[in-house]
Amino acid sequence: MPEFSLQPVQIGTLYLEWPVFLAPMAGYTDGAFRSLCLEQGCGAVVTEMVSAQGLIRHHARTGHYLDAWGDERPLGVQIYGSDPGAMAAAAAQIAELKRFGFLDVNAGCPMPKIRNRGDGAGLMRDPAKLAEIVRQVKAAVGGALPVTLKTRIGWCAGTVNVLETTAGVEAAGAEAIFLHGRVAAVRHAGPSDWNLIAEVKRARRIPVIGNGGIKAPADVFRMVRETGVDGVMVGRVALGNPWWFRDVRDLAAGREPRQPTTDEVRAAIYEHLRREMDLMAQRGRKEMKRGAELTACLVLRPHLVRYLRGFRGFGDLARTLEERQDAATLLRRVDEVLASGRKRAEENPESRIQDLE
Ligand SMILES: Cc1cc2nc3c(=O)[nH]c(=O)nc-3n(C[C@H](O)[C@H](O)[C@H](O)COP(=O)(O)O)c2cc1C
Repeated sequence: MPEFSLQPVQIGTLYLEWPVFLAPMAGYTDGAFRSLCLEQGCGAVVTEMVSAQGLIRHHARTGHYLDAWGDERPLGVQIYGSDPGAMAAAAAQIAELKRFGFLDVNAGCPMPKIRNRGDGAGLMRDPAKLAEIVRQVKAAVGGALPVTLKTRIGWCAGTVNVLETTAGVEAAGAEAIFLHGRVAAVRHAGPSDWNLIAEVKRARRIPVIGNGGIKAPADVFRMVRETGVDGVMVGRVALGNPWWFRDVRDLAAGREPRQPTTDEVRAAIYEHLRREMDLMAQRGRKEMKRGAELTACLVLRPHLVRYLRGFRGFGDLARTLEERQDAATLLRRVDEVLASGRKRAEENPESRIQDLE
């Protein structure tokens, strides 16, 4: 099946057999969800973005973003911030944990509270500082783990400077670039510029992983074919749908992808909640005003909305999700929704991403 082929990639010292990454998504990609995606064939996962300042000040809540569920592998960690010294200190702390396969620097987050202080996407406006951060982070981890950068093509349509920013970080020692083909100003809406992703790939020697605009599993292979990227990273389309990664593997193996059965959806939701409870149980009581079980139910809520989207009874559940619900009540409601059956045989992947633009 040559049109569905994908080659392994080497990112510094990290060898990845299947370079299909789950994108970091704050509020979603904790250990519970990441581990489910890995089990369905995802090639590598990354934590949600973690504040460098929070880490060096030892904020307990920040530390929980580093929690993994079981033996998740390969697992990268993403940090954000704009002070090179603080980023380096956070990186050194992470390297000591010896738990992660790579360390990624966030230079793409468009949320106002992040970008307005110069963090995340704000770093694209200061390519020299961005390169300095990568240089200091590299020195701080001392070769203990590869350092990568996740960025966008530019700040806004008038300032597309990705060739400059990526040249700087490559020279500073970054070992791969995750490139989202949109500018920060549009956040996650509109088309992703694959032509520019291809241009960056041609210009850089280090691996470039493409992101944005991938919906159907076949798009993974189309992006690789059209842009020459070394791998792909997918976000929203996988939410509530860890089987998406199974579909990609099925395509590559010449098998017909198939929709998960209702029993598979039920098993995934139950298991997802169990893993959230495991993760919460590792935390101190003080940080969970509501206790481990109710906190786990809260964390599961945005995922449930996505797991159950195509089912007839979903509207009723969605209307009551705001209520405080313990695990037994929540799962009873889930069973009712699943028993209501699917609205349509086939799902439109577009519908999964619309409300997260
Ligand atoms: C809810 C949400 C949270 C996100 N959080 C992060 C984050 O913590 N770090 C990051 O680098 N990108 C973050 N992103 C961006 C994604 O990683 C990805 O680049 C983007 O969604 C485009 O990929 P997609 O079209 O496959 O979803 C987030 C996106 C969404 C929708």
